[in-house]
Amino acid sequence: MDKLRVAVVGAGIYGSNHLAAYTWCPDAELVAVCDLKPELRKKVEDQYHVPTYEQVADMLEHEDVDAVSVATPDPYHAAPALEAIRHDKDVLIEKPLATTLDDARQIIAEADKHGVRVAVDYHKRWDPASIQLKNELADPSCGRIVRGYMSMDDIIDVPTKWFSWSHDSSPVHFLGTHCYDLARWYTGCEVEEVYAVGTKRMLKGMGIDTYDTIQAFLTFADGTNWTIENGWVLPHGFAKNNDGRTQIMCEHRLLRVDSQNRGVETFDDDKCHTPNYCFMQIFDGRPVGFGYDPIYDFVRCIRTGAPFVADAHDGLEAELIAGAVHKSVLTHEAVRIER
Ligand SMILES: NC(=O)c1ccc[n+]([C@@H]2O[C@H](COP(=O)([O-])OP(=O)(O)OC[C@H]3O[C@@H](n4cnc5c(N)ncnc54)[C@H](O)[C@@H]3O)[C@@H](O)[C@H]2O)c1
Repeated sequence: MDKLRVAVVGAGIYGSNHLAAYTWCPDAELVAVCDLKPELRKKVEDQYHVPTYEQVADMLEHEDVDAVSVATPDPYHAAPALEAIRHDKDVLIEKPLATTLDDARQIIAEADKHGVRVAVDYHKRWDPASIQLKNELADPSCGRIVRGYMSMDDIIDVPTKWFSWSHDSSPVHFLGTHCYDLARWYTGCEVEEVYAVGTKRMLKGMGIDTYDTIQAFLTFADGTNWTIENGWVLPHGFAKNNDGRTQIMCEHRLLRVDSQNRGVETFDDDKCHTPNYCFMQIFDGRPVGFGYDPIYDFVRCIRTGAPFVADAHDGLEAELIAGAVHKSVLTHEAVRIER
């Protein structure tokens, strides 16, 4: 197969990583970019010398494209994804697949109808620490999982300064879905029931109507219980934009990951920084790291027909859990997952 001709929708903070990945990837070619913001379209044209569009439909009618990456804000994945699917394109959608079950199910139904495939960029599955845990858990001498804990938090700048759409998302959609996806991947089974509590105080006080933090308790079909905590209010002075901890107690092994301090520390006049050097780096002009790997893997899977590591079904499962978590926070009751 010739190079995969890819278009990217959404050239913001994260979409720019898709642009860098497809530009470098030897098996792909970035052919067009779509963003609502004229200043971003101009920046992309100057940097990548590809045509840009304001509307996805317009782009797909004028450009010869094999596949589309969707990196629009969390609540606005469905419209561009459906447009691409209806043009018979395979799609890579940034996590979360969607923020509503209707959107998630519509994407899957439409992809089935058009015979195209949808991958979801759950990049944490490519984190070498996650791969280590996955392999440890596959070792029979580890024994069964007894209990799981995971946290993932962002500094308060993320919902207050990075995005204008935080009120239409939540720490659960933005971060929790990563954790739910990892817990499903580690256990190899599905969540049956959730109970969750949440707090709206700091962000709401700043005019952003979303949760500061949500703590969820997930019961899986294998009987294991997981506690998963996600928040958007870590102090600005934290050494990294986010913090993450995992602790899995098994019958014969205890597994722990600290995804905040990975061993590199830098100090400037203000504070200590703990960069996640495994995530995204430019080395010798090449974008390397587990943030780019799923984008390269999408290209590989489309070109070879291999199954995706994380697909729309995984995206739907994470959204089923996210929906139940939000419902439980409001009702103060345990919520069964209805499939
Ligand atoms: N920022 C991160 O650290 C990060 C990390 C991992 C994943 N993600 C995911 O990536 C996605 C995008 O996040 P971001 O941080 O890049 O947000 P962003 O706000 O920086 O960028 C989103 C871009 O999409 C454009 N856009 C919105 N609707 C559009 C449409 N219909 N057509 C064309 N362009 C449209 C906006 O103009 C904007 O430039 C989100 O789903 C997010 O969860 C972000």
